[in-house]
Amino acid sequence: TSAKPGPTTKPWQKVGTVAQLNKNGQLLAENSPIGAVLVIGTSKDTKNLIAVNPTCTHEGCTIDWKAKENKFVCPCHGAEFTRDGKIKQSPAKKPLKTYQVKIEGASVLVQT
Ligand code: FES
Repeated sequence: TSAKPGPTTKPWQKVGTVAQLNKNGQLLAENSPIGAVLVIGTSKDTKNLIAVNPTCTHEGCTIDWKAKENKFVCPCHGAEFTRDGKIKQSPAKKPLKTYQVKIEGASVLVQT
């Protein structure tokens, strides 16, 4: 399968290594080529990988992933987001930005 050409096709960017991701089940790349990216999951279950921009849409704190509760929580004012970035709890008014994510060799790649 080949990607469709066009304005929506962006290059995949490396945001870290599989070893980093698997260590804690998450990988935070604060200065990736596409800005801050938080990848959740491990290489053992690539279908369930998720990648978001971890910048809270309220006032810009960095959100945390709560694996047990299956949600993102902002430490600043308590906003919560579902694993696909949707708003679960105010005061956030906009969803998190989500990215495509894949593993290739030893690298974790993200596409905007
Ligand atoms: Fe995240 Fe306010 S900055 S809830």
